[in-house]
Amino acid sequence: MKEAGTEEQSPELGKSTGKFITFEGTEGCGKTTQAEMLSRHLRSEGREVVMVREPGGTVVGEKIREILLDPRSGDIAPITEALLFAADRAQQLRDVVRPALRKGSIVVADRYVDSSLAYQGVGRGCGLEAVKNLNDWATGGLEPDLTIILDLPLKEGLARAGRGEWDRIELESLEFHRNVRHAYQALKNLYHQRVAVVDALGDPGVVHERVLAEVEKAI
Ligand SMILES: Nc1ncnc2c1ncn2[C@@H]1O[C@H](COP(=O)(O)OP(=O)(O)O)[C@@H](O)[C@H]1O
Ligand SMILES: [Mg+2]
Repeated sequence: MKEAGTEEQSPELGKSTGKFITFEGTEGCGKTTQAEMLSRHLRSEGREVVMVREPGGTVVGEKIREILLDPRSGDIAPITEALLFAADRAQQLRDVVRPALRKGSIVVADRYVDSSLAYQGVGRGCGLEAVKNLNDWATGGLEPDLTIILDLPLKEGLARAGRGEWDRIELESLEFHRNVRHAYQALKNLYHQRVAVVDALGDPGVVHERVLAEVEKAI
């Protein structure tokens, strides 16, 4: 997508001095908890941090979020689901992520493109390549500097997530979530330069120390 050349699509222009860290993993593995802990830590060191979650984070993104997570949305076609996630991502990149990176902030994201590769590409069977191409278009190819995949046995994650109300995707079968976990493991091999897999078992504070070790290595 580089040849498109617009500011909003050029990864180089968008990134400048900022750093982009993404958290990934299956339901309940601790992404939100760890993204918050890392953000707090970086702020305590005087860094400017912008936290984002997806879907959401913009007016249109919050509307897309409602459609995607509401069990009443019913049987959304896999391609529709992939397109909706990509649409949300494009909006949040233009309005929130790129401006923050341009200002030199650290952007900490609770999910990004790898979620679509794992959930829609593999879990829903849309195919990795198709979902990768779609997201390259949606993001202008903007890649994280560091992606932390929090790896947790499925049952542990679903038990953690099960403390709240379940959304449309959490309600999927155990086999779906097993495929997603395996997909994340495959993504580690595909993108080994930027991906770190962190053991998500243990107290939040212990997992946080593991996360910090990876962040200090990478940025
Ligand atoms: N290391 C941990 N050990 C036990 N419970 C945890 C841990 N990390 C998070 N939790 C709890 O598990 C649930 C899911 O965590 P959350 O951070 O929301 O996961 P995710 O965002 O990946 O779905 C929350 O209730 C959270 O408080
Ligand atoms: Mg979460």
